[in-house]
Amino acid sequence: MAEGPDAPRHPPGRDEIVVLRQVKKAFGDQEVLRGIDLVASRGETTVIIGGSGAGKTTLLRLIVALERATSGEIWIDGEEVTALRSERELNRIRRKFGVVYQYAALLDSISVLENVAFPLVEHTKLSKKEIKERVMEKLRVLDLDPDVVAPKFPAELSGGMRKRVGLARALMLEPPILVYDEPTSGLDPPTSRIVDDMIDEMRVRFGVTSVVISHDIASCFRIAHQAVLLIQGKVEAHGPPDSLVDGGSEVAKEFVRNSGVDVETVTRVTAPGSAPRSR
Ligand SMILES: Nc1ncnc2c1ncn2[C@@H]1O[C@H](COP(=O)(O)OP(=O)(O)OP(=O)(O)O)[C@@H](O)[C@H]1O
Ligand SMILES: [Mg+2]
Repeated sequence: MAEGPDAPRHPPGRDEIVVLRQVKKAFGDQEVLRGIDLVASRGETTVIIGGSGAGKTTLLRLIVALERATSGEIWIDGEEVTALRSERELNRIRRKFGVVYQYAALLDSISVLENVAFPLVEHTKLSKKEIKERVMEKLRVLDLDPDVVAPKFPAELSGGMRKRVGLARALMLEPPILVYDEPTSGLDPPTSRIVDDMIDEMRVRFGVTSVVISHDIASCFRIAHQAVLLIQGKVEAHGPPDSLVDGGSEVAKEFVRNSGVDVETVTRVTAPGSAPRSR
């Protein structure tokens, strides 16, 4: 069979919504990602964990098409992103993702209404009135009282509410995939748990696929269907979170041990008898 760059590509199955094959990324002569193979299944939560500098954020930027791979294939929702060239085509891929940034990344100088409206202003030709209606509806859906919250500035909200507003903004264009960069970083354990619950709630209520970048082992064990451990630009281990501790990788076991988290005590969303998965 033909191999090499001109060989025919094989599209992934429909349920494999994010697929990376032998993806490499170099900045100058520093190879940051060194041949990543990864599959995120539709409707599931994939958590990518790894130490500082492992290449997590770089991987995320490649997946959401903000950065180009040096080599390898990236498929998003059945389309090969690495074969696309024009900004217009790449923008179409970018719209498939809602991105929830660390600390929600809301703009402090504008109201919640304007923050959440942002994707609609950027990407649609809707009228001001239609945009406001959609924002108010989205806030309501996310259990925020729109009349109270919309006129406020982000600084006037609690941390948990700010996260919800960030989610409302990420969901504005109804993307099939939500991506989170370090969603629990800098939060105390109870607030982290609330954010974990929110991530799972988004998956259940809106049927989205979630890709989460994290170095929070407890959070990974709570919400992941699949955990992917990234070490120095390579996938060291992947599978259900438990496979990190009872699988074949000594490095994975040590990574979990060093986190100091007693994973036995963490309640998993994937465990039998955990919260209902669909409605
Ligand atoms: N635009 C860039 N130009 C040059 N080097 C970069 C660029 N982006 C990332 N790097 C390098 O790639 C390596 C991996 O960085 P990355 O931010 O992906 O790691 P990370 O796993 O997200 O780390 P952290 O946990 O600290 O956020 C680092 O050595 C970083 O300096
Ligand atoms: Mg990072």
